[in-house]
Amino acid sequence: MTTNAKKGRIFSGMRPSGRLHLGNHIGALQNWVNLQQEYECIYCAVDIHALTDSASKDATSQIKPNIYEMVLDWLAAGVDPEKSIIFVQSHVREVVILHGILSMFTPMGWLMRVPTFKEKLRQLDATEHTVSYGLVGYPVLMTADIILYKADTVPVGEDQLPHLELAREIVRRFNHLFGPTFPEPKAKLTTYPLVVGLDGQSKMSKSLDNHIELAASPDDTTKKVMKAVTDPNRKFLSDPGRPEVCNVFALHKYFNPDKVDQIHQQCTSASIGCVQDKQLLAKGINDKLNDLRERRQELASKKGLVEEILMDGAAKAQTIARETLGQVMERIGLA
Ligand code: TRP
Repeated sequence: MTTNAKKGRIFSGMRPSGRLHLGNHIGALQNWVNLQQEYECIYCAVDIHALTDSASKDATSQIKPNIYEMVLDWLAAGVDPEKSIIFVQSHVREVVILHGILSMFTPMGWLMRVPTFKEKLRQLDATEHTVSYGLVGYPVLMTADIILYKADTVPVGEDQLPHLELAREIVRRFNHLFGPTFPEPKAKLTTYPLVVGLDGQSKMSKSLDNHIELAASPDDTTKKVMKAVTDPNRKFLSDPGRPEVCNVFALHKYFNPDKVDQIHQQCTSASIGCVQDKQLLAKGINDKLNDLRERRQELASKKGLVEEILMDGAAKAQTIARETLGQVMERIGLA
C-alpha cells in the first residue's frame, strides 16, 4: 500500500450482520470500493461491537458466520485486499486496550448525551441502569477503532455523525492532556440518499425483511421485486403513477439510470403499469449485479480464501496498532 500519493487514511467499520443487501451496497459498500482509488483504506468487521446486541450464546455463535458472508460481499463488490487492509476487529486485540485507556479520559456525561444512545434506550425500553457498560461505551470503542490506525477520514452514514463528534472530542482531550498524538477524524458523509425498502415504508433493512440480498439469485430477486409496494394511489393501469412517492422508481435511479427519464414519463402518463415497471427493475438489478454475484460464487468456492485474506489483513493492521499503542503508553507514562 502506498501512502504518499493518497489523500489520507480511511477507517470504516461494519457490524457483521451477514449477507448485505442493496441498501448496504448503495449506501456504504460502493463508496468503500470507490474510496480505495484516492485513500489508503482500512475496513473492519466490528465483531466486538456486535456483542452489544448479542447477549446470548445463540446470538454470539452467529457472529463468525456473519463475518464470512459479509466479507464475501465486500470482496465481490470490489474491496480489494491488494489495495486495502481488510480485517476483523477482535483479531487485533490492541483495540481493547486502547478502548480501556480512552475510557479513563471520557466523562460519562459525554456518553449519556449521545443522541444514538438515548435513542437506543428508547428502542430497548431500557434505562442507563439496565443496559450494559459496553453499550454506553460503544462510541469509545469506535473511537479506539479509528485512532488506533490514526485514520483522518471516516466514511459513515448520517446516523453515525454523533459518534464521530464524540471521537473528535476524545481526541482533542487526549492531545491536550498528553501532546499531539492523533489526527481529529473527519466524517465523510455518503452522498446517496436513504434507500427505502420494498415495503415503501422505511429504510431497507434485514430486520424488516424489506430487502434484497446482493447474493440473491436472479429468480429470488425478481420474486421480491414483483411483491414490492408501489404508489398506493395507483389502483388501475389507467391511473397515472407518482414516481416521487414510489420506491420502485427510487431504485430505478440506481439500477436503470439510463432509462429513468423514460420510465418517469411512462409511469406518469400511465403508459406502463406497475407490473411491467417492476419487471424492468428486476432486470436492471440482475444485470447490474451479475458480475458481483459471479465473483462472489467464485470466491466462495475457494476454500479458506476469506480466512486467509482476513489473517493477512489482521497482520498488517496489527503492525500499525502496536506502534500506536506503544506511543500511547509512552505518552501517558505507562511505558
Ligand atoms: N458504529 C458503526 C455502525 O454501526 C460501525 C463502526 C464501528 C464504525 N467502528 C467504526 C464505523 C469505526 C466507522 C468507524 O455502523
